[in-house]
Amino acid sequence: MSELNKIALKILSNDKGILAADESNGTMTKRLESVNIQSTPENRLLFRETLFTANSMKNCIGGVILYDETINQISNEGKTIPSIISDTGAVPGIKVDTGAKVLANSLDEKVTEGLDGLRERLKKYYELGARFTKWRGVYNIEEKRPSKLAIISNAHALARYSALVQESGMVPIVEPEVLMDGEHSAEDCLTKTSEVIQKCFEELIVHKIDLTGIILKPNMILAGNKSKNKISNEEVSFKTLECLKKSVPNEVPGIAFLSGGQSEIEATENLNLINKNNDTNFIMTYSYGRALQQSALKFWSKDIKDIKGTQNIFNHRAKMNTLAAQGKWSSELENK
Ligand code: G3H
Repeated sequence: MSELNKIALKILSNDKGILAADESNGTMTKRLESVNIQSTPENRLLFRETLFTANSMKNCIGGVILYDETINQISNEGKTIPSIISDTGAVPGIKVDTGAKVLANSLDEKVTEGLDGLRERLKKYYELGARFTKWRGVYNIEEKRPSKLAIISNAHALARYSALVQESGMVPIVEPEVLMDGEHSAEDCLTKTSEVIQKCFEELIVHKIDLTGIILKPNMILAGNKSKNKISNEEVSFKTLECLKKSVPNEVPGIAFLSGGQSEIEATENLNLINKNNDTNFIMTYSYGRALQQSALKFWSKDIKDIKGTQNIFNHRAKMNTLAAQGKWSSELENK
């Protein structure tokens, strides 16, 4: 077993999932202002520290993805943030892309940037305690989109990123996110997501990536949020499994889904059904941002000093998703 494979399994095993707390300052500002909290470095740290010191970290969370600001912050008790996370048994991770920018000659599509100087940044993050990383490519479904150009460019960048990350001794999360925005059908999402993921693996293989030392972070197969033809959660699970079975090489140890704008319950229910119906060897778990934090953030915003109350809400969501990672969740458990 390679060291990278061991890290990936440490993050994903025992039905644990990933807390994606890697919102950039711009995104975090939007999230905080939506609940009338001022977005200061202190408030961003306070909310995140509240989550990182919650009880559920020990049994439910195998990894936390941080943003550059957070990995460099010192907690209110004088500890580094990666050490707080490691003390719970979880692995600290870091988002290393610098965002999606307009792709020249495309149909107004995006390519994710951040390769320049990445080797040096990775060295710094490793020293700070990170053992895995994240890079997100983003694709829209519309007429003629995602284009070949967008699919190839993002796959190439994800592969170059993965090579540098593995060279530095860390596990890359490969996140090609086909957005749920739009009127497209679930069938379109299945076709396009499969194409995107297959291209990513083609490039990862060309770049000699150790596939046992990565984590794939895909979207689930859903109809667009403006589609008139929604599909059932059961169908979401079958289509998602169909996509992954035909697109992901067997060596990959695990798949950790993004929530992508689904409600908390929807994201939990879909993950639960995916695991109930899982006839693959892949670990299937969560790497949620909004679907783990939304209710906790709302509660916290009413009284930012109520640490215990906020942690209770977060603990419940983490527990529900960890049950879903085993196919053992049910809606009755939500109210217990
Ligand atoms: O890149 C996206 C985040 O890591 C996951 O966020 O679960 O809110 O889509 P989300």
